[in-house]
Amino acid sequence: MSKKWIAPSILSADFAELGVEISRVEQAGAQLLHVDVMDGNFVPNLTIGMPVVKSIKPKAKIPLDVHLMIEKPERYIEEFIKAGADYLTIHVEATEDVEGCLKKIKSKNVKAGITLRPGSPLKSIEKYLPLVDLVLVMSVEPGFGGQSFMVEQLEKVKQLVVLRKNNPTKYLIEIDGGVNTETAPLCWQAGCDILVAGSAVFKGEKSAANYQKNIQSLL
Ligand code: DX5
Ligand code: ZN
Repeated sequence: MSKKWIAPSILSADFAELGVEISRVEQAGAQLLHVDVMDGNFVPNLTIGMPVVKSIKPKAKIPLDVHLMIEKPERYIEEFIKAGADYLTIHVEATEDVEGCLKKIKSKNVKAGITLRPGSPLKSIEKYLPLVDLVLVMSVEPGFGGQSFMVEQLEKVKQLVVLRKNNPTKYLIEIDGGVNTETAPLCWQAGCDILVAGSAVFKGEKSAANYQKNIQSLL
């Protein structure tokens, strides 16, 4: 039975009132807060870094799910943990020492996540599955919110459900990119536990009531 958590991506929030936006999605029923960190190198976009994570940590009542889209994440793992990441996810393509990164995260009692670009095969992360608490399947090319869902990526979700049966860690399966009212049912059906949603949650009026309606429409 999947968990059915929604993790709003703050990339689509109003950054000028981020603390208030976080309270709104919490009131609206979000279980995790997805934080997209981009370095303009691993992906062609720049977003936020440790100072923002540090500032939102005391405001957020729900765990911070930090998605690192940065080259050589080993350089910043400790700092993101100090800043307050509860889940820290790295890209398999971003480092030559995936295992070292995951072990470092776990050694600090933070949940370790692994993710892969749509073009990377599931095989590329299979050997790391015993080390992770979360697997993030990218259903768009990482870099920007508001892109179209790549439906064929659901195959990875289905395979991850099968692989989890014999895996020592019962990792959570999360999907990220292009989740909306049409694609969310396909994600739940495939076996996702967590749906990241940016534009689908933060669209329309900036109020807890509207965000609640948006979140409910994905469940
Ligand atoms: C893309 C990010 C996503 C993005 C999702 O690189 O990882 O988290 O914010 O945005 P939507 O839900 O609008 O596709
Ligand atoms: Zn993300």
